[in-house]
Amino acid sequence: MLKIKILGAAAGGGFPQWNCHCDNCRKAWANNPDAIARTQSSLAISVDGDNWFLLNASPDIRQQIQTNPCLHPKQGKRHSPIKGVILTNADVDHIGGLLTLRESQPLALYATQRVINVLGENSLFNILNPNYVARRKLPIDQKTELCFQDGQNSGIEIELFPVPGKIALYLEDETAGANFGSVPEDTVGIKVTARDSKKSFYYLPGCAALPPDLAERVRNSDLVFFDGTTWVDDEMIETGCGVKTGQRMGHMCMAGPAGSIQAFAELNIKRKVFIHINNTNPVLLENSTERAITNKAGWEIGYDTMEVIL
Ligand code: MLT
Ligand code: MN
Ligand code: ZN
Repeated sequence: MLKIKILGAAAGGGFPQWNCHCDNCRKAWANNPDAIARTQSSLAISVDGDNWFLLNASPDIRQQIQTNPCLHPKQGKRHSPIKGVILTNADVDHIGGLLTLRESQPLALYATQRVINVLGENSLFNILNPNYVARRKLPIDQKTELCFQDGQNSGIEIELFPVPGKIALYLEDETAGANFGSVPEDTVGIKVTARDSKKSFYYLPGCAALPPDLAERVRNSDLVFFDGTTWVDDEMIETGCGVKTGQRMGHMCMAGPAGSIQAFAELNIKRKVFIHINNTNPVLLENSTERAITNKAGWEIGYDTMEVIL
């Protein structure tokens, strides 16, 4: 068995976002049933239902733990079913929650060398006491079995692979050219495999394009969770919420000839779920035309507490 829970299906900022009064967020603030709130980007995975690893740790993690009983402490005076965290990049929406996981709890933290370095350079993360929290660097394109902090095997194998993307916003170097100093290890996708059942899925919460090698990697798979940040590339500008395109932020839009719906159309993937959805994206509204188009194309729109068992 491989159990997957969406803890947060929204992009950075969540839905609604604290300072946003866009058409979507206004509906969500008003608890309109067409605009269901979502917390920030994270999944939880387990092969036994007792021990869980998080794929990214969002700033909303405390709320996410509260909402999902499988993540509540279960025994003794101090305990957590959360045994570790795997990071796909160093964006605030994916690492902010690490600061909530302090309090001397054994954890295993996995990321690329590059992302581990970012944590190392920010002394705030030293609050995760190294006596309890192991920081493990993962090579690219190599299958590794996740271990608990004490070294015991978890039964979950993961493989990180680079995807088109961008360095974290707060690390952008304007003098470093068009990619702001990004390197391949800045943004990765994850293939998760249950060691015993061999069931597997892909998780790509940030991805700026689907080049042929990446398309081949995910072709014929059972399940993909993919970057659903924007519907169209200039959405932030069109909705009056920002000046950046999705591409500028390292994200591929859903619609149109260059969009993910088209790119995935012929890849024969059993189940496709959009996650990391920005609050401006019209697919968030249950009754929108864009939602209907997306569903008709075989995609599901991820929501908090959604569970998939492979
Ligand atoms: C992104 O996904 O583009 C980032 O999370 C943006 C941010 O850091 O707010
Ligand atoms: Mn993000
Ligand atoms: Zn908004």
